[in-house]
Amino acid sequence: MKSIKVGVCGVGNVGGAVLENLSNSPEIVENNGGVKIDVIQVGARKGKSAVSFDLNVTTDLLDVANNPEVEVLIELIGGCDLAKDLVETSIRNGKHIVTANKALIATHGDELFELAKEHNVQIGFEASVAGGTPVIKALREGLVANKVNWFAGILNGTTNFILSKMSDDQSSFESALKEAQDLGLAEADPTMDVDGTDAAQKASILSALAFNTPHNFELVSYGGIESVSQEDISYAADLGYSIKHIAYGSIEANEVFVSAYPTLVPNDQLLSQVGMQMNALEVNCDGLGSTVYYGPGAGPKPTASAVIADIVDISNGGWPVSKNFASKNLLSKESQQGFSRYFNLTIKNEAGAIAKVSSLFASKNISIEALIQNESKANQADHTHVPVVIISGPLTDEKAFEMTKDLHSIDEIAQSIKQFRIHNAL
Ligand code: HSE
Repeated sequence: MKSIKVGVCGVGNVGGAVLENLSNSPEIVENNGGVKIDVIQVGARKGKSAVSFDLNVTTDLLDVANNPEVEVLIELIGGCDLAKDLVETSIRNGKHIVTANKALIATHGDELFELAKEHNVQIGFEASVAGGTPVIKALREGLVANKVNWFAGILNGTTNFILSKMSDDQSSFESALKEAQDLGLAEADPTMDVDGTDAAQKASILSALAFNTPHNFELVSYGGIESVSQEDISYAADLGYSIKHIAYGSIEANEVFVSAYPTLVPNDQLLSQVGMQMNALEVNCDGLGSTVYYGPGAGPKPTASAVIADIVDISNGGWPVSKNFASKNLLSKESQQGFSRYFNLTIKNEAGAIAKVSSLFASKNISIEALIQNESKANQADHTHVPVVIISGPLTDEKAFEMTKDLHSIDEIAQSIKQFRIHNAL
């Protein structure tokens, strides 16, 4: 049987799971993948590993990148500075790369793929999006015959876990986040999960595959789940929706729009049923229609599964160059696509207040599809104000922000106004 020699850099939770998988059950990969994976060197900046194994740990990661015996360098240290140096050095030394680092691919993907092409090596990054669910493989290989119209995904396990816990168990945001961290789902700094950065980086990577755009993370617009409250979740449920953090990419002519925002998903759509730390990606293609990929997207073992799959693919010759550098498709920050919207306002409990709000919608020719003014959900002790939820007709992001600003100028509206997209799988 052929064998491949790898060096693993970063042996925290994910690196530890890769080493455990390879040492506990090598026969699975040998039987399924036809290759024996030999870990010949391990690097960890702090010289410590989450699991014990026979090899010494080097603290100088570039030692691994410069080791002439290493054929594939597995980059699991995260971040962009040292990781980029490590990956570039390895590529220049003729090594293939397998990485779980979405920040690195989303930010520096194009230059790294170009360098890899020059040196005739491969970069595997299946683990960077949706962990153990092979969505990169699906987009790059399984759907190669199709023009992608749009994709919509739940790509952050931590935020999906938090929203599910808030919805199903009425957990507080803080206790749900703590649980997600204890399960090893969250990033070292969970801000990246909560504020939407992690999902946006993943969406940027998917966009490059789905639409052949350059990697340009700066053009992805995104927001996090900090603003989603129990009250929003409950209103959404009453109206037949679940609130999910949705990464969305679409193309119109040659313009591609990529975003990641808390979004109301109608309960009759598959994405609304994706709970806890699970990820899912729906890809809609011309002719084919929608296909949906579902599975664990975070945590050491799922991520290790994707890392090992990439090593096996590389040992079997890797992937054809998937990027069409001649593509004219470009990312654009401003989407002209309209989405129905959820507005949550707190207004004075007095005659004519609602009339002013509805007049504003009418003056802008925006239809109100649903309106709830429910006293039992009033959160003001003095009952001088009541919460109001409005579902509007379709608005572009720009118009929705404009509408929010105009609502703020109505004296009878107090506190902050929330506005979320409603997913429309057309
Ligand atoms: N922290 C990420 C998540 C996992 O919660 O989905 C790694 O991408």
